[in-house]
Amino acid sequence: MVVATTRQPRRIELFTVPVGSPLRMAPPSNGARPRRGNVPLEEKQRRSWAQTYAETPYNQLPWFSPDPSPSLVRAVDRKWIQPPGPILDIGCGAGTNVLWLSGRGFRATGLDLAPGAIAAAKRRGHRRRSSAAFQEGSVLAMPFRKFAFRAALDNGCFHTLPLAQRGRYAAEVARVVQPGGAFLLTWIGREETRKFGPSHRPSLQEVAAVMEPSFVFVQTEFSDAHSRRGWGAKGHFLARYSALLVRRRSVQPKAR
Ligand SMILES: C[S@@+](CC[C@H](N)C(=O)[O-])C[C@H]1O[C@@H](n2cnc3c(N)ncnc32)[C@H](O)[C@@H]1O
Repeated sequence: MVVATTRQPRRIELFTVPVGSPLRMAPPSNGARPRRGNVPLEEKQRRSWAQTYAETPYNQLPWFSPDPSPSLVRAVDRKWIQPPGPILDIGCGAGTNVLWLSGRGFRATGLDLAPGAIAAAKRRGHRRRSSAAFQEGSVLAMPFRKFAFRAALDNGCFHTLPLAQRGRYAAEVARVVQPGGAFLLTWIGREETRKFGPSHRPSLQEVAAVMEPSFVFVQTEFSDAHSRRGWGAKGHFLARYSALLVRRRSVQPKAR
């Protein structure tokens, strides 16, 4: 595994709900309040993300950027990911990365759990006359056939999942990405000291343990480039990982 450190100044690109914030549940459509404890985890997550996008305009969410993520731009510049795809953005939010890819000749699809994220992405795509596709759904049971994509990316979705769902995540990504295809995964790492962010930040070892049976880690970049700006200026250590993975041709047994 190659581990490189990047020092270029970069915008903050990955956020999620504050640490320890309870999952807020939107009232069900019949108006009755849900009984706590009865709602399966995945339904709670769906409601929570739906509510987030329903309550806040997409462009005021802390992770939103009108520009593509620097790790994706780098991967395309370096030809790690090449048109025409097809390429999938997992947890695409309001679709910035998908629309950017589509503008560069990729057949790009965005998937997100939140209806409001997909609606915003479609509106933005419509305004730009983009051919990008957007679909509502969960990465844990994706509405795509086996090996449907030549490449995939995830900019800030994986790290929002609790540990118990990460194995299913890896199996689903391995199912839809073709053997030999690239997967660009970007996440907030365990070393980050800022309180705001994913409640369980994955270490590189945790990500490797779950992804490595189906993917080879080709390159992993670690960046603490924000450490002199924003939260970094307040003395926080900000840890971003971006890994290029390639789908194995055959799934390997887990390392013991
Ligand atoms: C921190 S945001 C990042 C959004 C986008 N990738 C970006 O860079 O702007 C995480 C996104 O993952 C989505 N998400 C969370 N759990 C998901 C799941 N199980 N399946 C699909 N999307 C999910 C959320 O709705 C949210 O839009």
